[in-house]
Parts: sequence; structure tokens; C-alpha cells
Amino acid sequence: MQKLGIIGTNWITGQFVNAAREAEAFELTAVYSRTEEKAEQFKTDYTAPEANTYTTLTGFFGSRGFETVYIASPNSLHFKQAKQAIEAGKNVIVEKPAFSNPDEMADMIALLADHPDQFLFEAARQIHEANFKIVQDAIAKLPSINGATLSYMKYSSRYDAVLAGEEPNIFSPHFSGGALQDLGVYVVYDALSWFGQPITVDYQAEMLPTKVDGKGVATLHYPDYDVTLIFGKTVDSYLTSEIYGGQSTIVLDNAGTIGQVDLYEDGGQKITSLGEQSLANPMMAEAATFATIIANHDTKRYHELLQLSQSVNAVLYQLRQSAGIQFDADQH
Ligand SMILES: NC(=O)c1ccc[n+]([C@@H]2O[C@H](COP(=O)([O-])OP(=O)(O)OC[C@H]3O[C@@H](n4cnc5c(N)ncnc54)[C@H](OP(=O)(O)O)[C@@H]3O)[C@@H](O)[C@H]2O)c1
Repeated sequence: MQKLGIIGTNWITGQFVNAAREAEAFELTAVYSRTEEKAEQFKTDYTAPEANTYTTLTGFFGSRGFETVYIASPNSLHFKQAKQAIEAGKNVIVEKPAFSNPDEMADMIALLADHPDQFLFEAARQIHEANFKIVQDAIAKLPSINGATLSYMKYSSRYDAVLAGEEPNIFSPHFSGGALQDLGVYVVYDALSWFGQPITVDYQAEMLPTKVDGKGVATLHYPDYDVTLIFGKTVDSYLTSEIYGGQSTIVLDNAGTIGQVDLYEDGGQKITSLGEQSLANPMMAEAATFATIIANHDTKRYHELLQLSQSVNAVLYQLRQSAGIQFDADQH
């Protein structure tokens, strides 16, 4: 197994470490946290007694004990930490959304060009799962494409703090937060993977007192159809998602975590279940993919993923501009 260091000690890092271990992709050997207590607690919670701990990024990146870092810090920190990692010779797996705006993305692409033997992946977990490809194949067989409605809304446990007048990182423009960045990114990944680059985009956002979006509806305009994206962090939604093609419709239980894929035909008379049972840990497929690309030095697949990540970053920014959402990261 390849050796992994981590930044950020919240539950999502634990889920990735477990997934990486189950997939026999990466083993945890280094933990960075701002406090020694949290680093030690993480080692205990995720049974990695041999892992080294660090409380400075310089010490962490100076370690020879790992080759790849998984970054799950608040969004606005991703760029600086990923840059430091690449300059230190590490591969990077950075949580979605990888970077706050196209300027950061462009700087990173330029840096990566100077480090051709290293890899940087955006952890968009669902695009690596079996059901994602199943949907893609089903779309290719539709008689035509007549648009889609893709939805992903989940009440955030941190929204309670917003209602209490606080500003948690994920709802803060200082940390590049908001619904579009956090959950909209999944449906933007869906749309760009399945339908390609839209011609124009717009976003009607419901703004919060913290000056980021709580939920909203975005439209991606293609030459012959529109794709509607519905996402949010202030409500729970049970809406299905749909892809329209003539008299056929592909129905997904959830466009951010695709558990079920059904093809409806003949006016709903014929329903065929296409989906596979999802893996218990939704991060296993991405962990396996990243480890395989690194091990095989599969630059073709790597550049496809990096190109997609760049396109998603550009569309997120255009959507954000259309809703007038500003981040501190845009001022740098
Ligand atoms: N793929 C998924 O399903 C999924 C799910 C959830 C989140 N995410 C992504 O994971 C990333 C982290 O999200 P999160 O909700 O876990 O964020 P978070 O709780 O705000 O912060 C994550 C970690 O970063 C460190 N941190 C927090 N505030 C910081 C600050 N002001 N300065 C420096 N470090 C700080 C903390 O680790 P220490 O205290 O140990 O330093 C914390 O555990 C985001 O990019 C998010 O989009 C992905």
C-alpha cells in the first residue's frame, strides 16, 4: 500500500482513511493537525498507532514517511496547502471543491507542469463509483438528450449554528463556503461529465446572513436543452433526479450519491433497474482509482480528471459570479 499523510481531522478524513485501507490503496503514516491532542486522537480513532504526528506544515511536508497527502481542510486553505505539498514533492488528493476560483486553479496547473511526475486529484467521490458510469452509458443509449434535472440537498448539522447567529467555516465567505461549493459541486461534476461544457450558466441563490448561498437553483444552458441543478444545505430533499431523452427518462435516487438508477420507457409502463449496489464506504472507489493512477503512472486518465476538475472550477466560478457571491480568496 502507498503511504498517506492527512491534513484535517474531521470525520471525512476518517472516512477516507478507512476507505483507502479497505481498498488496499493507502495506509496512514502521517497526521497533521493544529494540535497534538487532535492528531493523537485521530491515530487512536482510526487505528494507526505507527503514524507520525505533526503540528507544523513545514515539519509535516518535510517528512519522508509518505508520498501522498489527503487535504480535507476548509476550502479556502486547499490552494496554499496543495501548493506547499507539490513543492515538497508529494502527490495531492484534495477535497472538493479543489480551489476557490480560476486564478488559483491556473496557478496550480502551472505549478503541476513544473512537476510532471506528481499527481493532483480532486476528491469528487461519486464520479469514480460504478453507478456514475452506468448513468453515462445509459445516456449514450438515449434516442436524444432533452435536458435534465439534478438535485442534491441535505440539511447541514452546521446550519443550526448559522440560525444561532454564528458563521461556521462551511457557511463562511472567508473559507470559500456555501451550498454551491459544498453540494452544488457534485451536480456540476455530473452535468459536465454527462453533457459536456455548457454555453452559458446562471444561478438563482438564496443567500444567508453570512453572505454565502444556503440553497438555490442553477441552470446550465446547452445548444439544444437546459440542465437544471437544485442544491442546498438548509433543507433535506427527497426529490429524485431525471435525465430526459425522447420518451425515455433515466431516474436517479440522488444525483450526489447515486444509489439507484432506473430507466423509464413506454410512458412509464416499462421500468428497468440499471444500478449496482453501492459500496458501503462511498470513498472506496476514488481511493482505489487514485492509487492505481499513481502506481501505473497513468497520465492519460490523470489528465482527463485534471481537465474535468478545471472545467468544474470554471463553471462554479461563473455560477458564483452570476449570483454575486464573493470570497476573500478572490481578493488575493
Ligand atoms: N467528500 C465528501 O463527502 C466530503 C464531506 C464533508 C466534507 N468534505 C470536504 O472536506 C473539507 C473539510 O470539510 P469539513 O467540513 O471537515 O471542514 P472543517 O470541519 O471546517 O475543517 C476540517 C479540518 O480542518 C482543520 N481546520 C478547521 N478550521 C481551520 C482553520 N481555521 N485553519 C486551519 N485549519 C482548520 C481542522 O483540523 P485540525 O483542528 O486537526 O487542524 C478540521 O478538522 C472541505 O473541503 C469539504 O468540502 C467532503
